[in-house]
Amino acid sequence: MIASAAFYDPRADQFGERYASARFEDVHRGLLRHLPQTGAAIADIGAGSGRDAYAMAALGYQVTAAEPSSGMRDWAMSSHAPAEVRWIDDALPTLALLRSEKRIFDFVLCSAVLMHLPASALGGCFSALGAITAATGKVAISVRAPTPTDPKQIFHAHTASALKTAASSAGLTLIDHGESVDVLGRDVVKWRWMVFQNGEIA
Ligand SMILES: C[S@@+](CC[C@H](N)C(=O)[O-])C[C@H]1O[C@@H](n2cnc3c(N)ncnc32)[C@H](O)[C@@H]1O
Repeated sequence: MIASAAFYDPRADQFGERYASARFEDVHRGLLRHLPQTGAAIADIGAGSGRDAYAMAALGYQVTAAEPSSGMRDWAMSSHAPAEVRWIDDALPTLALLRSEKRIFDFVLCSAVLMHLPASALGGCFSALGAITAATGKVAISVRAPTPTDPKQIFHAHTASALKTAASSAGLTLIDHGESVDVLGRDVVKWRWMVFQNGEIA
C-alpha cells in the first residue's frame, strides 16, 4: 500500500466529511469553463470523498474515479448513489490499471493530490495523466504547499515552475492557471490550480 493511502485509510470518515462539506462549483470555480461537453468522459484521479466525481456525474459526464485509499473509496460509495460513478483502485505516478484498460478521457481532474507525490515522481505523474487524456483533451490539477503541521513524508512542496516543466515534458501545455483561497476555511492553506491542453497549441 502506498504511504499516502495508509495515511488516508484510518481518517476516511473525518476527511470524507470535511471534503464533502464544500461544493465542487465553489472549490473549482476557475476550472469550470474548461469542462467538456455534457456526456464526455472524465477521470477524477485521487477522487477522495467523491465530491467532485459525483458533482460532475450530476452534470451529465461519464465519470471514472481513481482512488488508492480503500477507506476513502468506501466512504465515497456509501455516501452517494453507487451507479453514477465508476470507482477503481489506482494511483499515480503510474495509473497502471487505467492505462492497462487503455481508457481515454476528454478531461482529467487531479485535485489536491500531487502534493502527496515527491518531486522525483512529477514527471511520471504527468506522463500518466497525459497518457489517459484524449488528443484534444485537458488535464486540470490543484495543489497546495505543505503547512508546518503536515507530516513531511506525506506532503511535498512543488513550485509552479516545476509543475509546468514536468507537464511540458509530458507533452502538456499550460493554458490557464490561478490561485484560490481554501473553501474549507483554513487560513494557512492557499491553492494553486493549473489547466493543461494535451499537445501543443496551434
Ligand atoms: C487531499 S485529498 C483530495 C481528494 C479530492 N480529490 C478532493 O479534491 O477533495 C487527496 C486524495 O488523494 C489520494 N491520493 C494520495 N496519493 C495518491 C496517489 N499516489 N495517486 C492517486 N491518489 C492519491 C488520497 O487517498 C486522497 O483521497
